[in-house]
Amino acid sequence: MNDASSTGRFITLEGGEGAGKSTQVARLKGWLEKRGHSVVATREPGGAPGAEMVRKLLVEGPTERWDGTTEALLHFAARRDHLRSTVWPALGRGAWAISDRFADSTLAYQGYGHGVDRAMLADLYRIAVGGFRPDLTLILDLPIETGLARAAARRGTETRYESLPKAFHDRVRNGFLDIATADPGRCIVIDASRDIDAIAEAIARAVSERLGA
Ligand SMILES: Nc1ncnc2c1ncn2[C@@H]1O[C@H](COP(=O)(O)OP(=O)(O)OP(=O)(O)O)[C@@H](O)[C@H]1O
Ligand SMILES: [Mg+2]
Repeated sequence: MNDASSTGRFITLEGGEGAGKSTQVARLKGWLEKRGHSVVATREPGGAPGAEMVRKLLVEGPTERWDGTTEALLHFAARRDHLRSTVWPALGRGAWAISDRFADSTLAYQGYGHGVDRAMLADLYRIAVGGFRPDLTLILDLPIETGLARAAARRGTETRYESLPKAFHDRVRNGFLDIATADPGRCIVIDASRDIDAIAEAIARAVSERLGA
């Protein structure tokens, strides 16, 4: 829960490449708006002008451009800017904020995927974010081949992570599942191998049950 003066909630969608996060953020925004909520849909890395500049450094260019620790520092710098410029002001005026990826992606990709020390990532979280947490995290889970095939079908210039080997994406998927197991009060795993409507329904049900939307 956020501070008592706020009626907004912070929801994050997480999962691997092509899991359907961006599609479902848009669906959930529409569903919440129909219920009368004011909703800000945002994304990471990015979601604010400064953070979007950092995003370009992270998602474009060769895979070996940064090591895992440098990536983690860039992600948390962008995250702090995103929170200060977009998420916290939205919650402060009573809106709901839905973020396409948040800190669990850093733990899954840099921690589980690249082997960056997870205690260090927890320290960075505390420095950049403090005690703030999402009210609900929806982890979209599906076989990595399915997700990568979906992502490839709409491929643009943001291919830096997609280009990593299958073993990396396996570690990321298992990382997300581990995160959900460790924090069941915050996280719900959603079977994202289904069609778009079925996933949207499962998400709406989860949000309704957990947050009373
Ligand atoms: N349940 C689904 N079944 C089939 N195709 C889907 C489904 N959900 C999304 N797609 C399609 O798959 C592609 C990837 O979806 P989307 O961009 O929402 O995923 P994403 O998780 O945001 O991916 P990325 O991590 O690469 O940003 C899009 O072309 C989208 O239309
Ligand atoms: Mg996306």
